[in-house]
Amino acid sequence: MSITGCALVLFLLFHMAMNVVAVIGDGSAYDMICAFLGANWYALVGTVGLAACVVVHFIYAFILTWQNRKARGNVRYAVTVTEKGVDWSSKNMLVLGIIVILGLGLHLSHFWAKMQLQELMGNHEIALATGAVVGPTDGVEIIKYVFSQWYNVVLYLIWFAALWFHLTHGVWSMFQSAGAANDKWLPRLKCVSNLISTVIFLGFAVVAVVFFVKGNPELFGCCSCCCPEAAVEAAVEATPAVEAVVEGAVEAAAEVVAPAN
Ligand code: HEM
Repeated sequence: MSITGCALVLFLLFHMAMNVVAVIGDGSAYDMICAFLGANWYALVGTVGLAACVVVHFIYAFILTWQNRKARGNVRYAVTVTEKGVDWSSKNMLVLGIIVILGLGLHLSHFWAKMQLQELMGNHEIALATGAVVGPTDGVEIIKYVFSQWYNVVLYLIWFAALWFHLTHGVWSMFQSAGAANDKWLPRLKCVSNLISTVIFLGFAVVAVVFFVKGNPELFGCCSCCCPEAAVEAAVEATPAVEAVVEGAVEAAAEVVAPAN
């Protein structure tokens, strides 16, 4: 569990960093990453490795939970008062993990099934429910489509929160299983664990929220910095003023030049 958990945390850090690129610039950099991670052999090796890690991690989670319950007999917890130092996440890792897996299923249907899978099937055009047609590496268009719907944003934020709880326990526990935690290091590792989980949560959440705001300008007001329609309107409004300034400048220049001639 510790080894597959470590691989999955590294994937999450990479995936989160990659997704943050989608909110920077015009999105072409993100689409380039999606094309790079499409149906190429190295991306497919990564996908198969990742799927194997998820399966092994999940099977061990059930085996360990079953072993723990068997060791305790029918009494799940002899003392139900929360012990100092025993966090809520540690007692609910299996449930949190199941929520994470269910969210992953929804997520793969939103993205992977429209991207890498379509490339593997040789499809170059994917029709979205809005009627728009996109390519299998048009990551930004697919993110825009998914997060413009409020219920997806709510579901994803719940999913990210479950992932946060799962990781706050999982990351330090991974070090402990590998024998790297002692009385001195355990509190430090718990702190690092909270930090990594929070960075991962915020990185993913910012993408969902930014695309929701951008995709619903009517809800948040439309400003020329993020909304193309408003930028065009502002440019049209500003045109007479700009023309007047240019005309004034031309006249002033003519006056300066005329006496000299
Ligand atoms: C804002 C949040 C997220 C966005 C925008 C996002 C975006 C994407 C995209 C575009 C792909 C398809 C890449 C491709 O097939 O070329 C993908 C695949 C995937 N995502 Fe996410 N993702 C997010 C959050 C997450 C989270 C939280 C997890 C895990 C808990 C996750 C796990 C995966 C996995 C396992 C794949 C398949 C990777 C592969 O094919 O190798 N994603 N995601």
